[in-house]
Amino acid sequence: MARLSEHGIRLSSMSPSFLNSNSTSHTWPFSAVAELIDNASDPGVSAKQFWIDVVHETDHLCLSFIDNGSGMTPNKLHKMLSFGFTEKGSGRASQQAIGVYGNGFKSGSMRLGRDALIFTKNGGCQTVGMLSQTYLESIKAQAVIVPILLVVTEDSQASLTAVLDHSIVKSLEQIHSHFDSIPSKKGTKILIWNIRRAKDGKMELDFETDPNDIRLPEIQIEELKKGLKNSGSLRTEQNIPDMHYSLRAYLSILYLKPKTQIILRGKKIQAKLVAKRLIHIEHDVYKPHFSVSLRYVCV
Ligand SMILES: Nc1ncnc2c1ncn2[C@@H]1O[C@H](COP(=O)(O)OP(=O)(O)O)[C@@H](O)[C@H]1O
Ligand SMILES: [Mg+2]
Repeated sequence: MARLSEHGIRLSSMSPSFLNSNSTSHTWPFSAVAELIDNASDPGVSAKQFWIDVVHETDHLCLSFIDNGSGMTPNKLHKMLSFGFTEKGSGRASQQAIGVYGNGFKSGSMRLGRDALIFTKNGGCQTVGMLSQTYLESIKAQAVIVPILLVVTEDSQASLTAVLDHSIVKSLEQIHSHFDSIPSKKGTKILIWNIRRAKDGKMELDFETDPNDIRLPEIQIEELKKGLKNSGSLRTEQNIPDMHYSLRAYLSILYLKPKTQIILRGKKIQAKLVAKRLIHIEHDVYKPHFSVSLRYVCV
């Protein structure tokens, strides 16, 4: 039966398949990675470092993202695993925040893989959360449910069982060792597994060609090249810029003013300050003015 509001009106619910639909806003996996870095460097979290690694966990290849930012309380983690909740909407700091819609983590993580585990500690408590399409499918869930457990309290038992039965962590010891791998008192670790596959059935990310990078596979680079040439964006003799297929190259130019040091597979990203490398620089201030009548039209 549909859940009702306190006034007896039906509450809207969300189908698990929406997790995938929502992720398609990222046409490219690197922008999904950027969502996770944005979250770690946004005001209020302010991680100094962000580590990206490729690890094996219980026979699964995983993407691992660790930050030494503020971490989260269980309530904050619940908001992170819900849709449209953001705490960056007001105040001065919010002016510098990248994420403001409360959707980046959900669209980004589910673009990279089908399943994600979040381990977060805020100096007080340690909390684990799971957003998993595989889990929702296997329990035939009708709506998105997100097991969240405070390590370890009695009322977390149902969530703990869900995580141990349906994720890549199989014991409390494993959970503790993930918290230990966050190298500070506060911070967050995100593990993503069942990494998305391309049309040819192969993983859409190449971890082998360069052990210090994550690249798009050759076949996708060729497709991209063809597309860019056909659209006239790339001349026949030109090579495709490496930021299109190398995560290291992309991350080196991602931020105009980098606030967080990114370490990709054990090697620091050398930020290239694009604005300082241009021969000619022109400053243009964007300051739209709306006339009263125009404002009425917009409303
Ligand atoms: N790495 C992180 N550390 C601490 N808090 C985080 C982290 N990632 C996400 N959050 C919290 O989860 C919320 C939702 O994140 P997200 O879905 O990306 O939306 P948005 O960034 O637009 O708020 C953020 O506003 C933040 O409070
Ligand atoms: Mg965000």
